[in-house]
Amino acid sequence: MRAVRYHEHGGPDVLQVDEIDRPTPEESEVLVEVRAASVNAVDARFRSGSYGDVSLPAIPGGDAAGIVAAVGEGVEEFATGDRVFAGGMGHDEGGTFAEYATIPAVKVAHLPESVSFEVGGAIPNVGVTAWMAFVEYAGLEPTEYCLVHGGNGGVGHAAVQLGTAMGGDVLATAGSEELRERVRDLGAVAAFDYDSEMLEDDILEETDNEGVDVILDHRLDDYLGLDLTVAAQNGRIVTITGGIPAVEDAPLQSKQPTIKGMAIANTPDRQPVLRRIARLVERGDLNPEIAETYDFEEAGEAHRAVTEGGYVGKIVVRP
Ligand SMILES: NC(=O)c1ccc[n+]([C@@H]2O[C@H](COP(=O)([O-])OP(=O)(O)OC[C@H]3O[C@@H](n4cnc5c(N)ncnc54)[C@H](OP(=O)(O)O)[C@@H]3O)[C@@H](O)[C@H]2O)c1
Repeated sequence: MRAVRYHEHGGPDVLQVDEIDRPTPEESEVLVEVRAASVNAVDARFRSGSYGDVSLPAIPGGDAAGIVAAVGEGVEEFATGDRVFAGGMGHDEGGTFAEYATIPAVKVAHLPESVSFEVGGAIPNVGVTAWMAFVEYAGLEPTEYCLVHGGNGGVGHAAVQLGTAMGGDVLATAGSEELRERVRDLGAVAAFDYDSEMLEDDILEETDNEGVDVILDHRLDDYLGLDLTVAAQNGRIVTITGGIPAVEDAPLQSKQPTIKGMAIANTPDRQPVLRRIARLVERGDLNPEIAETYDFEEAGEAHRAVTEGGYVGKIVVRP
C-alpha cells in the first residue's frame, strides 16, 4: 500500500510517499481503508521533532475516515464494509496518511451515510477537543459568554459552532476581517482581531462588562493575562496549549477563576463523543469546513498550509 512517511525529522519536505506492507489489525483494532485524513497542528510538531518521542520512519496523521477492511480479535461493534471515522491518535499509534491504517476500536465510530469522508476525516480531533473543553470541563451553559481564541482554526471553528449549538454567546478572535466575517457566519456573536490593542476592551464591552464565563485558550503563554482580565466572576479557562506565564496583578483572588489544562490523549475512549459529533454534523449544527484538499504526493504542502494558517477549518489529505 502507499503511505506518506518521514524517515528523518525536518520541514514539510521530509514527507514522501513509500510503498509498504498493509498492516494487520491486532486485538481490539480496526483496519480502515482510508478515504480521507486531515492535518492537525500537532502533526507538524511530531514531524519537525519539536514534540513527542516519534519512532522513525513514521506515518503522519491522527484523524481518518474510510471503510472498515478488517477487524481484530474482540472487536464486535464494527464489521467489514462499515463507514467509519476516527481521531485523536497519537504519534505512537500508527498514522492515517496511508491507504490502510490500524486504529484502536475505542477511537472509531460509525460515520453517517449523509456525512462525506472528507468531513469525517476533518472533524475528529478538533471536534473531540472542542467537546471536551466545553461539555466535560467548562460545563458551558445556555446564554453564557464564551471566548474562542483563533475561531477560524481547526479547534476554533468547531468550538464556535459547538458553543453556539449549546446556547452560548460565542466571542472569537481571528487574524483578518475576511476570517472574522467567516467566523461570525459560523455563529459567533462577535469576532475581534487578535492583534488589536483594544482586544480586552472590545471583549468586555461586548459582554456589557460582565466578562466571559468560559474561555477556550490555545496559547496560554500569550493570553493568560488577557483571559484573567476579561473573565467573568468564577470564569472557567480551559487551555489546550501553553504554560502558565507570570502575570502581574492577576485578579485571581477577586475573580476566583478556574484554569483547567486538558489533552484529549487523557480520554482514550473517543467513541461516545465521536457519536455525538456525528449527530451534530448530521443535523447541521456542526459544519466542518474544509479549506483545501491535497493528495498524498502533496502531503508536504498540506503540512506547510497548516503551519502558515490564514484559513477556516481543516486541511484534508486523500490517498
Ligand atoms: N490539548 C489538546 O488535546 C489539543 C487538541 C487539539 C489541538 N491542540 C492544540 O491547540 C492548538 C490549536 O490547534 P488547531 O488544530 O486549532 O490549530 P490550527 O488549525 O492551526 O489553528 C490555530 C489558530 O490559531 C490562530 N492564531 C495564530 N496566531 C495567533 C495569535 N497570535 N493569537 C491568537 N490566535 C492565533 C490561527 O489564526 P490564523 O489562521 O490567522 O493564523 C488559527 O485560528 C495547537 O497548538 C494544537 O496543537 C491541543
